[in-house]
Amino acid sequence: MLDWNDPLAKPVVNSDTVEPTIVEQSLNNPAPENVNNIVDPTAVLSNLAPVNPEDKRVINGQTDINQLAPFKYPWAWNFFLNANKNHWTPLDINMAQDVTDYRHKLTLEEKHVYENVLSYLTTSDILAMRNIGLAVMEKMSAPELQIYQARQVYEEALHTWTYQHCIETIGLDQGEIYNRYRVVPEIHQKIALANRRLSSVLRSDIDLRDRDELHNFVIAYIFFAGIFEGCWFYNGFSPIFALQRRGLMKGTAEQLQYIMRDEVMHAAFGIRVVKQIIQEENLTLDQNAIREMWDESYEAEKAYTSYILKDPILGYSAETHIGQFQYIANRRANQLGLSEEPFPGAESTLPWLDEQANMRKEKNFFETRVTEYQTGGALNWD
Ligand SMILES: [Fe+2]
Ligand SMILES: [Fe+2]
Repeated sequence: MLDWNDPLAKPVVNSDTVEPTIVEQSLNNPAPENVNNIVDPTAVLSNLAPVNPEDKRVINGQTDINQLAPFKYPWAWNFFLNANKNHWTPLDINMAQDVTDYRHKLTLEEKHVYENVLSYLTTSDILAMRNIGLAVMEKMSAPELQIYQARQVYEEALHTWTYQHCIETIGLDQGEIYNRYRVVPEIHQKIALANRRLSSVLRSDIDLRDRDELHNFVIAYIFFAGIFEGCWFYNGFSPIFALQRRGLMKGTAEQLQYIMRDEVMHAAFGIRVVKQIIQEENLTLDQNAIREMWDESYEAEKAYTSYILKDPILGYSAETHIGQFQYIANRRANQLGLSEEPFPGAESTLPWLDEQANMRKEKNFFETRVTEYQTGGALNWD
């Protein structure tokens, strides 16, 4: 019989030795009633008026956070429904050929790219999880926003599992891979930058009724949604997609395509939330702060690129990577409604990347066989 106190434990055969469960113990020895914990529900309910959805706000709202509908932000609920159409686990994807590719086909330069991309991504996704789950979600005052973000927290954890699955399956040295961001300055720079932004909004004393605090929170959210997820992640898988296009590391690349679908949604959702805050709070963004954000993100990405691609691989170079970063950054600025593009004139250096993001498994154009979880129509990226 399953032990509900320890569900992973092997079942105990001899019932004579079974310890009483906590439930049984509490039934036999009921705790004395604490009169302070007894609440008269009618006393609370009699004071409550129905929630008017128009009173909801993204932050600093006063409506009942426990009441989902009627929605003020139906688009947030749609994000949640859409997110549930992209469901997989890393175990669904066949990695056998990747082991052979890594051992026998990748050049030293390609191994360097592969290992360092995984090393950066896995640390980044932990940061992404902590940002949305610990710093952002608690500040939202409408449940339909929190519910998508709760899903997002799970997805970031799933992404971390995915990288770990790849690292483990290929047989990479975990102690070495997971410590790389600590010892390679070019990887550390991106992580440190994100950590700094996160630390500035992950404080118990933050008060978003203060306009400076509010502005800093919005800038941090723009950074995480627009750059960290919208540019760094979106563009971050590309070196491995370049291998995939040559028939190499296709299992890993397919895992990353699933992750990319999530990240596109995360970026789009965050940008939507930010725009809603700006409108509701009548906030004017400091253009210097925006420019500084783009510049430091570009510098960090450039250093990272020069490290992971110090030697180009077939079909992919440092110039390709940084050019695409600038092109995608302009796209995010436009989505955010910012007054100017950060890198005027930047052109796409990876015309195939968007196709990669729009992968539809039902078309079956990959050779690996994956359980198809999509239950609705095609994912809606709006
Ligand atoms: Fe992620
Ligand atoms: Fe994400």
